Amino acid sequence: MTSPQSSQRIPHRPPGPRHVVSAEEIRGDPLEFLTSFADRFGPISHHSTEQGDQVYMVSTPDLVREILLAGEERFTKHETADDYMLTPLLGEGLLTSHGEQWRRQREITQPMFQRNRVEQFAPQITDAAVALAGRWSTASKNEPVHADLDLTALALEVVALAILGSDLSGVGQGFGTAVDAVNAAMSHGDPRDTPDDPTVIGHYAAFDRAKRTIDRIVALLIDARKFLGAADSGPSDLLSVLLDARDPATGEPLSAEELRAQVMTMVMAGHETTAKALTWSLYLMTQHSGVAAEVRNEIDTVVGDRPVSLGDLPSLGLCRSVLQESMRLYPPIWVISRRAVHDDQLAGFDVPAGSLVTVSPWVMHRSSDYWPEPDSFDPSRFLSDDGPAPFTYLPFGGGPRVCLGRGFAQLEAQLVFATLCQRLKFDLWPDHVIEPQALVTLRPSNGLLLSVEPRVTP
Ligand code: HEM
Repeated sequence: MTSPQSSQRIPHRPPGPRHVVSAEEIRGDPLEFLTSFADRFGPISHHSTEQGDQVYMVSTPDLVREILLAGEERFTKHETADDYMLTPLLGEGLLTSHGEQWRRQREITQPMFQRNRVEQFAPQITDAAVALAGRWSTASKNEPVHADLDLTALALEVVALAILGSDLSGVGQGFGTAVDAVNAAMSHGDPRDTPDDPTVIGHYAAFDRAKRTIDRIVALLIDARKFLGAADSGPSDLLSVLLDARDPATGEPLSAEELRAQVMTMVMAGHETTAKALTWSLYLMTQHSGVAAEVRNEIDTVVGDRPVSLGDLPSLGLCRSVLQESMRLYPPIWVISRRAVHDDQLAGFDVPAGSLVTVSPWVMHRSSDYWPEPDSFDPSRFLSDDGPAPFTYLPFGGGPRVCLGRGFAQLEAQLVFATLCQRLKFDLWPDHVIEPQALVTLRPSNGLLLSVEPRVTP
């Protein structure tokens, strides 16, 4: 992606370190790395990496807006970390495609997540959360509950049900285990960093095996769904939208590979992130007993003992604010990257074609320029009528590639969070240490171990 212009003159670059930044320097503590650059070098910085990337990191709403709104013609997802990490698993689905192919896919997939369509799943989401609350309330008092793992399994169950109309318990533990294995392999980072490292090779062998399992199960579920047709009763699964879709240019239905890529994309993009938002929210409840009591009070007043329903959500403002504030402090997607398509400029600095430009929700969400006392947990920030200033709050990204599943994620997170807090009280397991770890998503490095006490007998 180099152009004659970039080799003819020395680009006018923003401030940044003089040395080439190593992968270790970034990987040691990526969150601290991003924060320190914003602190030291200001709204836009430049550095080079060992892999030869020219990286521009921005941290003002105006620059964030410029990058996210620019679209694929100016800043593309092609050859970004998401592309390298996710394409081997997902193929060319909505998350990893670019240019014209992405535009066509977005048009086809957008109707999957229309509000009335996703809202049909509310009763099933609550049922799944009630079942989890039941399992947790009868867990042994001598053992911690592995909340992060259980929430990931719950979110996987919910997204598979919504997309495929299939109860994954029917395919046994194989799917969940295989998804865990690919998540672990992908969490290892960019395969270009350490191609010969035996641990990485081991991870990728496990990845290949797990990918084959997931591919087979997804293909089987799609075939079964095609053969049997949609369920006669209950909500119609989101796969129907893809099966009915026709290519606007050719009038052809999606090929088997296109279907597989989209289904995999939705299933993978749609569970790990939501699970992390819920994990951090429960963790914050253990740390802020006053807010936790107010949350329970709100649920008792609005819902009482019956199952939480879609109609309750508008009245559960504090629950919603806790989730929003938790995604501010711990955004599941902590960095968003694009590549400059052609020689460009940002804030008057040259950005040669092929440069990486990055926006970090973690940095934006914890900047004292936009948030008073940014490190403190205060859900009331989201209770006022005027929301955060534009492009300061980015849990779902922004612009044309904004998260497609955000409505679904918010619905699911609110129903699950309210159901769990309605039925249980949470404490952090004694001596369990929580540190944010920035892998593909932002997660507690040692998981989230809780002790759980039942509240009401439904
Ligand atoms: C709390 C939960 C979630 C968070 C924090 C989240 C976050 C994000 C972010 C930040 C992006 C934009 C990435 C970028 O610009 O590079 C994104 C894109 C996307 N998300 Fe989500 N997501 C969540 C849940 C979901 C769910 C439930 C689904 C689907 C079932 C989903 C499907 C997608 C897809 C398909 C894209 C790609 C959109 C495109 O490129 O056009 N996400 N998500």
